[in-house]
Amino acid sequence: MSRPPWPSGRYRRASGIRMAWMDEKPGRLRIERGGGRPGLEIGPRSLALLDLFGAGRDVAEALHELVPRDAPGTEIDAWLAACLRLVEAGLLLPAGPPAGPAGRTDPFPGIEEWNYHFRMVTDRRRVRAYRRAIETAVEPGMTVLEIGTGTGILAVMAARAGARVHAVERADVIEMARRTIREAGVEDRVTLHHADSRRLSLSPGADLLLAEMVGNRILNEDLLEVTHDAFRRLLAPGAAAIPRAISILAYPVMFEAPARYREVLAEVEAETGVGLRSLLRWMERRLEAGGLIVETDAHAPGFRLLGEASELARVDLRALDAPRFEARTHLGIREAGELSGVLLAFELDLADGVSLDNRPGSPPTHWKNPLFPVPRPFPVSPGDEVAVEARYRPGSDLELGVAEPPGAV
Ligand SMILES: C[S@@+](CC[C@H](N)C(=O)[O-])C[C@H]1O[C@@H](n2cnc3c(N)ncnc32)[C@H](O)[C@@H]1O
Repeated sequence: MSRPPWPSGRYRRASGIRMAWMDEKPGRLRIERGGGRPGLEIGPRSLALLDLFGAGRDVAEALHELVPRDAPGTEIDAWLAACLRLVEAGLLLPAGPPAGPAGRTDPFPGIEEWNYHFRMVTDRRRVRAYRRAIETAVEPGMTVLEIGTGTGILAVMAARAGARVHAVERADVIEMARRTIREAGVEDRVTLHHADSRRLSLSPGADLLLAEMVGNRILNEDLLEVTHDAFRRLLAPGAAAIPRAISILAYPVMFEAPARYREVLAEVEAETGVGLRSLLRWMERRLEAGGLIVETDAHAPGFRLLGEASELARVDLRALDAPRFEARTHLGIREAGELSGVLLAFELDLADGVSLDNRPGSPPTHWKNPLFPVPRPFPVSPGDEVAVEARYRPGSDLELGVAEPPGAV
């Protein structure tokens, strides 16, 4: 029998496809293609092909990866048939030229992406804490859903703890996760999904959600939106989570630099002759609305904490009614000074006995701390209480307002 021709060139998986387990045939998947077209039943070969072609790649190269060199002809024929069927069904589409220098999709399309992931992978406190949490909370046989796998480091840890892992990543870094997972020898236990988690379907739901989605402005990586969606659609009832909760801590602070922004802008205007009033007006409007955030290094000199941390909000990620909250607290002043801003830090409750924070006094991490300058710095004395209100709305950043002068709320 002559072999069907292997399609040549680069192909990629069609976008917007959804997969669902078939109730009537346990262990088989159906692809939902939308547009009124009938669903397509697929088996493990098609699934592996769709996974591998998440980003554009060469079919010959993919064949080499999937099929051992000494595989019998019938095995190769089966892969060819699966591939052709996906091409004919419009699920694998011809792809454009390679994005990366090595003829494959480059996992880091810009050096910024590499920097972002390199800083995370080499943040030893972060990696150690997540590893301990995974070893504590993941039990052999569990299904773990990791959202935002990045380079794949946490997915490998979960697989090594005995879990079956679904690792989701929307960016091209998924290609690096694929290599990390293969290098670790756990590719049989990790299924990669090149997708935004909010467009994924998973059935049955996973037993544990694993996510490291905390940003330099704490909630700016959509932790609440993604977690809320996962608990509604992608997890089994009563599923566990790493992290289980996030606390947002607020500190009264005094500092020089951003508080002097009016003078600094005036100096730059005088020196350059370029008027910066429009920039100043924009900043003042944002300041008044509580939405001017400076990503700052709380370990840098020049900051004076005027009091201890107050818990502004504690969000139980397993019981989110909605990806939003409003919170208020009082900052206790311990030292006399001028209140020029409120610094925030986070603490993640990862598992029993395992937490991770970026408090100013803790050993450093790669995270910055969001700092909200107050529009009009004012003097404070020990014993004062300053009322602070914050809110978070989906798709935006934390907003924070300070009542001034102290006690006037
Ligand atoms: C903070 S990084 C963590 C990467 C990795 N888990 C680690 O610990 O090193 C978050 C990752 O989540 C991805 N991401 C963010 N939102 C996502 C979503 N809704 N669906 C899939 N991936 C997402 C980002 O592209 C990024 O790679």
